[in-house]
Amino acid sequence: MKSGIYALVASTVGYFLFLGVLTIPACQNQAIHLNKITLTWGQDVNVPEQWGFLQNQVTPFLLDTSDGETLHAWHILPLGLYKKHEEELIDEPAGLAVDITSRLSFKMLREDPESLLVLYLHGAAGTLGSGWRPPSYRAMSALNPVKIHTVAIDYRGFGTSTGTPSEAGLLNDALALAKWAMEVAGIPPSRIVLFSQSLGTAVTISLAHHLATQVANPIFFSGMVLVAPFADVEQLTATYRIAGTIPLLDPIARFPRLLDFFNRFIIAKWPSKDKLAGFVRSCEMSTDDNARYHITIIHAEDDYDIPWEHSDKLYWHAVNASSPHGISYEELEEEKAASRSELLGGGWVVEQNTQKGSLREAISKWGLHDRIMSYPIVSLAVWKAFQREASEAP
Ligand SMILES: *[C@@H]1O[C@H](CO)[C@@H](O)[C@H](O)[C@H]1NC(C)=O
Repeated sequence: MKSGIYALVASTVGYFLFLGVLTIPACQNQAIHLNKITLTWGQDVNVPEQWGFLQNQVTPFLLDTSDGETLHAWHILPLGLYKKHEEELIDEPAGLAVDITSRLSFKMLREDPESLLVLYLHGAAGTLGSGWRPPSYRAMSALNPVKIHTVAIDYRGFGTSTGTPSEAGLLNDALALAKWAMEVAGIPPSRIVLFSQSLGTAVTISLAHHLATQVANPIFFSGMVLVAPFADVEQLTATYRIAGTIPLLDPIARFPRLLDFFNRFIIAKWPSKDKLAGFVRSCEMSTDDNARYHITIIHAEDDYDIPWEHSDKLYWHAVNASSPHGISYEELEEEKAASRSELLGGGWVVEQNTQKGSLREAISKWGLHDRIMSYPIVSLAVWKAFQREASEAP
């Protein structure tokens, strides 16, 4: 009996010590970004062929940020385009491109006035080559394997990129990528779609919000696809499970005031729901012809890292911001239940359109947290996000 009590006291003390460690900024930073867990140990991210790409289908290169970091990036060619130039591509030098602009793959992206570009922002942990990311890059161009290029980056502190991750830093990295796409590759925002998963969705929303709300020269991309997003960090800490199994903060999440207290120590806030609403509202209110939005939120019901209810919240904030008088969460849920299209494999889709844009929430029965990124539901969403451009094409 007594030893049982001791064990209970010891584990409780141990747990609170652990929470204490999490309030130390450097430890917290690791816990949130997991950037040292590369999952590609012993592999060289400058040899993308290791992840099943054809020779020189992927060109690794470096990208500079405005605050002096160097990011590692991959330019992934769609297979149909690769096939057209297969022999010339095989003859090119392999590995990290010292000057990306001299590469054939880059010229194909820049010189085709119809090429489309996905800017890919990955989730926490790992590198460009980890887990389901390589199959996911291939899924980006599935519906247009001649036009859709993908450029993905490792954020600061991830893979071989320099620096240490932070909320402001990751936004800066995304800005560097967008700037490179528009200024170096010369692709107008109307031919760019933002794709992201998990932590990357917060970076994407932050990027879209930042560029759309800047006073001088606001920028609006063709669309964005958000896979397995979260509403904000405060709500994430209440539900996140490390590696999908350990509900880290579940013991304190049962006590809202204790959780609030703990959340005060969390440095990264990633207020996605507010920024997404701000982004939608700024498009709705803008008189700029380019101020349009096309947002698809995708989540799997069996995602046990980030529960799909986060997507319901995010979608609600976006819909609420798109309607002049707003809508309550309960009202929207009722509307969704009445209007949703059921998917045969399980799950459902809802859609909301205004003069300025469209919002979609697709909840699939299967796909977990990562695997879904390689599924046709994602390929379809990416393709649709380019439709504004496609419908305007001669
Ligand atoms: C919903 O929209 C209304 C009207 O724009 C706004 O007043 C309200 O704050 C919004 N609700 C949330 C939770 O953002």
